[in-house]
Amino acid sequence: MKYGYFNDAQKEYIITNPMTPKPWINYLGNEDFFSLISNTCGGYSFYKDAKLLRLTRYRYNNVPADTNGRYYFINDGDTIWNPGWQPTQTPLDLYECHHGLGYSYFNSIKDKIEVNLTAFVPLHESCEINYLKLKNLDVSSRKLTLTSYVEFCFWNAVDDSTNFQRNLSLGEAEVIGSEIYHKTEYRERRNHYAYYSVNHPINGYDTDQDAFLGPYGRIGAPKAVTENTSYNTLASGGTVIGSHRIEICLEPGEEKTFIFVLGYAENPENEKWEAPGIINKTPARDTLSRFQTDEQVKEALRSLANYWDELLSKYTVQCSDEKMSRMVNIWNQYQCMVTFNMSRSASYFESGTGRGMGFRDSCQDLLGFVHLIPERARQRILDIAATQMEDGSTYHQYQPLTKRGNLDIGSGFNDDPLWLIAATASYLKETGDYSILKEQVEFDNNPSKADTLLEHLKRSFDYTISHLGPHGLPLIGRADWNDCLNLNCFSKEPGESFQTTGPSEGPVAESVFIAGMFVKYAREYGKINELLGNRYESHRAYDAANLMYDSILKDGWDGEWFLRAYDAFGNKVGSHENEEGKIFIEPQGFCVLAEVGIKEGYAESCLDSVEKMLDTKYGIMLQQPAYQTYHLSLGEISSYPPGYKENAGIFCHNNPWVSIAETLIGRGNRAFEIYRRTCPAYIENISEIHRTEPYVYSQMIAGADAPKHGEAKNSWLTGTAAWTFVNVSQYILGIQPDYDGLVIDPCLPDEITELDITRHYRGTIYHIHVKNPHGRGKGIKEMLVNGHRITGNKIAYVENILDYEIEVII
Ligand code: GLC
Ligand code: GLC
Repeated sequence: MKYGYFNDAQKEYIITNPMTPKPWINYLGNEDFFSLISNTCGGYSFYKDAKLLRLTRYRYNNVPADTNGRYYFINDGDTIWNPGWQPTQTPLDLYECHHGLGYSYFNSIKDKIEVNLTAFVPLHESCEINYLKLKNLDVSSRKLTLTSYVEFCFWNAVDDSTNFQRNLSLGEAEVIGSEIYHKTEYRERRNHYAYYSVNHPINGYDTDQDAFLGPYGRIGAPKAVTENTSYNTLASGGTVIGSHRIEICLEPGEEKTFIFVLGYAENPENEKWEAPGIINKTPARDTLSRFQTDEQVKEALRSLANYWDELLSKYTVQCSDEKMSRMVNIWNQYQCMVTFNMSRSASYFESGTGRGMGFRDSCQDLLGFVHLIPERARQRILDIAATQMEDGSTYHQYQPLTKRGNLDIGSGFNDDPLWLIAATASYLKETGDYSILKEQVEFDNNPSKADTLLEHLKRSFDYTISHLGPHGLPLIGRADWNDCLNLNCFSKEPGESFQTTGPSEGPVAESVFIAGMFVKYAREYGKINELLGNRYESHRAYDAANLMYDSILKDGWDGEWFLRAYDAFGNKVGSHENEEGKIFIEPQGFCVLAEVGIKEGYAESCLDSVEKMLDTKYGIMLQQPAYQTYHLSLGEISSYPPGYKENAGIFCHNNPWVSIAETLIGRGNRAFEIYRRTCPAYIENISEIHRTEPYVYSQMIAGADAPKHGEAKNSWLTGTAAWTFVNVSQYILGIQPDYDGLVIDPCLPDEITELDITRHYRGTIYHIHVKNPHGRGKGIKEMLVNGHRITGNKIAYVENILDYEIEVII
């Protein structure tokens, strides 16, 4: 069953039924100001950091679900309704929510009144615009009341949802004409405030929620709206809202527009402490002056559309597979931008108050983003590296506003350091900008401790080789990529959280996954040093990679697949000897991705085992058989019911690893099949089973052991977006940036016999035409560059060439 449809020409997903299985959301904003917006206008806004500078309040776990947002109530005297259906839930004669790139557009009709509402965050602005158009489709004139509504958050979202004894005496607002200012905490000499305004005279307002809702009132039927009035309240303590009331009369066919602006403002630095409690309104009014007319709004929307057209032009494919084209050209890259911006901080499943920017997460997100805006990727790498410790270990997370490592979580996830090499290598391959390696970067955000980024990479590399276990494999620490495989946390007390207690280090528990990662990224580190002329260091890296390679084949191979780990007692995890958890996906995908065991024939064997033991029609499960009971020595992984999350769920993130691995051994049909199974556009018509948005990836799909097999969880913020884009763009379609040029090496399924790719790379445009006439899938028979046959499949980078025409025959 579908709840809408794709419109590729508009780059939109259009939802036609508001009762989607879950809220289907979109992200507005790209730089500092962000909003989440659902298909019923729910969601919230924040400035830079969803925990520390939250503008509007949102209640997770609320009932009914998703009932806080930017709401516009329309009262025509008989009926009260909202263009996004919530919160009144009045049935509409027409409902459409168009989620587009950086905007959401609602088109609704009720009793011959039409509303168009466009919500977006303009480029380079710290505000959300709600551009609302009302039109009378009736033959007689109509009188309406339009009432706006947002509920302000008192900035620190954790404090806001816990410290009520204080907060309920804090709230303050100010209203001047149509401008509503939220100034709670300004008195403490903070320099920021929020405002909510409309470019139209108003007939009334409210800022006190108690008065607006009435005693025990519901947001679905606020007293002010049902009584068709406003109380002109100034919040003083209690909950602060922003609500405008506008009375409107529309002649037949007439339409009127309103520009609502919800914004964040800071006083100029030098005025910060001068007048506590008094808001300097100039910054807010500056912004408002840019959004007074329809033409200004339309121009901002055009700029936003151009911005996305330009970004997405960097990688496009044309081929007979409409769904793949749609994902590659639009949604997969769009999601990569969102994961780059948000890491795992703010979604409908991540409250914005817990996890900030993940070290490993953000490094991986960058792999799918670096081609879009390399300059931002560069800065991100430097920010991330600054949270590394001197011994090479890293904070696991950091706060986006402060960019400082999170002390509560700390370090000890032994895969983390290596992801920094992964991110930096991908940046170098995309840009050729080696100057980044010379940048001075702090350790532990401490200005007195800084060294070059290259030195940071060295510490990452050294961290692994100085933390090896009895089999010469890397110690796992608190966990590796699989956060829930806590092999050293067996002393945890009941009720204690998994990642923060128990010994984080142990001298025995080892990870075959990190071993595979090490082979791959030690080689990258070696290559970077080779290119820099550091011969000693490059040999040191290659030698260590080779040694690890041998250790994996010796003690990390189980006979038909790669082992997962050794636990703290030296017992195998992910072996045929185990009763449960015999085979795990991660080392199969990543070891082969690192080319471990390809020439020995192990790769085919382990990938066949994956197909035999882990495959389902909805994707590849993380491990099998699922753990039926809790195992103290394995940790959080066995805390989930079978089929969920890391306990044998289909963890989408590592499906592309297996797909990439399949391309490396030339099995294009299987690689594509894996790609297709979890890809949202291909499963759009089972939305009632899949439940999350059909235009973006989710973190997890319930595995075969779960009663709700096929149901997805945790949409949007997942490393799946980046890894899938790497998989489809670089391995299936085969356009791989390398240190000194672009490599063309597709691995296609039989059904794709011809395709065109346009790739922008270091200022040059590559028009690549691929023919796969015999369905061979992989291996280039012939390649013509600007009409000349070349040997090999790399187009070495040459400066000042504007474009290339490339013909490839497989
Ligand atoms: C709050 C505090 C309490 C304090 C009182 C007066 O109730 O919890 O510790 O004594 O305010 O300031
Ligand atoms: C979550 C985490 C990620 C981790 C994965 C597997 O997606 O954000 O860091 O690798 O789970 O446990």
